[in-house]
Amino acid sequence: MTNNKIYFIANWKMYGTLKSVQSLKNVIKLKRKRIYKKAKIVYCPPYTLLGEFSKSIRNTDIELGAQNCHYNFDYGAYTGSVNSKMIKNIGCKYVIIGHSENRVSGENDKVINLKIKSSISEKLKVIFCIGETLKEKRKNKTNSVLKKQLINGLNKIKIKDNIIFAYEPVWSIGTGLVPKSNDLENQVIQIKKFIKKRFRIKNPIVLYGGSVNPKNISILKQISSINGFLIGGASQNPKKFIDIIKKTIN
Ligand code: PGA
Repeated sequence: MTNNKIYFIANWKMYGTLKSVQSLKNVIKLKRKRIYKKAKIVYCPPYTLLGEFSKSIRNTDIELGAQNCHYNFDYGAYTGSVNSKMIKNIGCKYVIIGHSENRVSGENDKVINLKIKSSISEKLKVIFCIGETLKEKRKNKTNSVLKKQLINGLNKIKIKDNIIFAYEPVWSIGTGLVPKSNDLENQVIQIKKFIKKRFRIKNPIVLYGGSVNPKNISILKQISSINGFLIGGASQNPKKFIDIIKKTIN
């Protein structure tokens, strides 16, 4: 783990009711302590809770993100959708794009590319997810898959400062499985190397996501190439989320 900011991005997925906004309380308290200054905490609740979260985190150091957005830059007749302008307007600074759970339901690289472009045009920070499936891993295709996702996702995008990368092996999301430390370290190093060379980003931020929990965090935090974590299941439980933050920073 580096000495720079360490990201803890809470991806709540399709969970949460108005009541769950209360779970912010203890996280806000924790974040006020000086020792946690270098923890960058970003909550990505479902769209329905963005307004409430936005109010609750006012005057705190905690930031807000959306879990996705529509590819259209402007308003339009897209029933059930929300665009980057709308999430910006409700107080989001971040947006997760390219999550594998959306890729499997039909989101392709071209759509992901448009979503990134529209988010950047709204000056949102993009958490750009990449990752290989188990089948791809078994066929030794991890590197080519990741490169393709990166190249296509960032096609013709000039401003890349606002992009944070999240390496999330699909086989690791929600399964309790995490890559071996050495493998993960090497993979993140390779991703960074590729990003630096191909996109000329000097110090890319690369997070790890996939079954991060209070038990495995002590091992994961030792991987020096990782700049933080994208946390799904465990982030919905404030106790577990706080535990992960504490164990990483202390
Ligand atoms: P998980 O999800 O922590 O529940 O595996 C991570 C993610 O999907 O971002």
